[in-house]
Amino acid sequence: MTTPQSAWKNLKNAAVAARDPISGLFAIEPDRLDKLVVEAAGLRIDLSKQPWSLGDFDTALTLAKVCDVEAARNRLWAGKPVNSSEHRAALHMALRAPDGADFEADGVPVSRDVEATRNAMRAFSEAVRSGAKTGATGKPFTAIVHIGIGGSDLGPRLVWEALRPLNPGIKLRFAANVDPSETALALAGLDPAQTLVVVVSKTFTTQETLANAEVVRAWLRAALGSESDAHLVAVSAAPTLAQAFGVPADQVFGFWDWVGGRYSIWSAVGLSCAIALGYDVFQRLLDGGATMDEHFRRTPLLQNAPVLLALAHIFNRDGLDRPLRAVIPYAARLRLFPSFLQQLEMESNGKRVDQQGQPVAHATAASVFGDAGTNGQHAFFQMLHQGTDVIPVDFVAVARAGEGEPANHTILLANVIAQAQALMTGRSEAEVREELTAKGLPAAEIDVLAPQRTFPGDRPSSFILMEALTPETLGALIALHEHKVFVEGVLWGINSFDQWGVELGKSLATKILAELQGGAPGIHDPSTAALVARLK
Ligand code: F6P
Repeated sequence: MTTPQSAWKNLKNAAVAARDPISGLFAIEPDRLDKLVVEAAGLRIDLSKQPWSLGDFDTALTLAKVCDVEAARNRLWAGKPVNSSEHRAALHMALRAPDGADFEADGVPVSRDVEATRNAMRAFSEAVRSGAKTGATGKPFTAIVHIGIGGSDLGPRLVWEALRPLNPGIKLRFAANVDPSETALALAGLDPAQTLVVVVSKTFTTQETLANAEVVRAWLRAALGSESDAHLVAVSAAPTLAQAFGVPADQVFGFWDWVGGRYSIWSAVGLSCAIALGYDVFQRLLDGGATMDEHFRRTPLLQNAPVLLALAHIFNRDGLDRPLRAVIPYAARLRLFPSFLQQLEMESNGKRVDQQGQPVAHATAASVFGDAGTNGQHAFFQMLHQGTDVIPVDFVAVARAGEGEPANHTILLANVIAQAQALMTGRSEAEVREELTAKGLPAAEIDVLAPQRTFPGDRPSSFILMEALTPETLGALIALHEHKVFVEGVLWGINSFDQWGVELGKSLATKILAELQGGAPGIHDPSTAALVARLK
């Protein structure tokens, strides 16, 4: 009988065993594309340029089976406390499920509350957009400043960038960083009388968010006096704290402890987007996520997109010891997707102990980095092609141009296809030598140049293609990665839904802040003490 331990061993042995280069596998595996390209919720996901043979792929699938990904998925859906260190369910799927669903968080029904919040969001966003809801002076709102950080910022920012109209009727700006420049830039040129401020914080205790919210509240009060609190909206799982801050009770939108911050774009955290894009667009985003949920929940492992994406990652990360992954959306509108994924993947799965507090047996999340293509090609792709480390790449591409000059979109597509091909096929030294010889270069120069102009190839990539960038495909793309992260967490035996690693820096910052503000010096190492003294 295969145990999880032996399945892991088999995967690692398979990964390091001698094999044909990726490009050679196509010739000996005629059904490679059939097996390694899957369709899910409007996305075509091609894993055929990953370094696994079809035999390795079966070995990876066995790992998913024996680690009981299916049972874990059922526990997730049943609202069991999969976030074990905080005794919480993780039910972001409930937020995007169609009306009439019946999710329960640890036995407590939640779907009616979700629907009530969605209805309130719809009513509020329509009132703001229609001008029925006005500011303190009776003028309609023309701008929103969204204040929040981490999961209370990255999802809304991504969605806005991806879907915003060319000439938005309502501008949406973001302030996450406590750097005062960020708030100053967000407010620059805005009229307080026509600006709605949406403060988003699950806990309503996050230092940076509260500091920024205070600055913006003061900006409103200075211009509009005591009536200005009518411009404040809050989204929080701690509504009483939001009201204590001055947000009118009927403008506080709740969410729940079973919604993780980085999984929260589907909740009222998306309110700013729902207002600025229109609620129907937001609903379509939810629908796309829900379609991916159905795929993940119902599709056999063999063709299950989140499962296969997770296995490809694990094959590289654990089988081939590759600690980095590049994510390159060939879509300017998706340029924030790598930043979004950094939190989703690295905060969820950057863990070194398992759910029992024991050291993990396998390396966990890879570091994620990336930028939009083709920009990245002119920045860091040199290293992807010829650096000493092999860095697997996830490409994301959009088949049909959304706007602008279609001919340029064709150039974009040619580039993304070419980059994936170049990483895989490379260019042999013999080929380079032949070319340089044909150009008439002297042999001594060819000896020096040829290795520098050789591409090793055999560098893996995944290719996610959507027909068009729509609210639905964006929702599906995000949900695909949420579930991928979940599957990885199950295989690694870690809790993907907590983030204890962010706490120490937060508490030290609170103490150091008191010192910078003139409090008594604390006890520090010499380097830290010198910095505090220098900046006091
Ligand atoms: O510091 C990490 C974190 O807790 C994230 O997990 C979260 O998304 C972010 O801070 C913001 O938290 P909140 O929404 O409570 O302000």
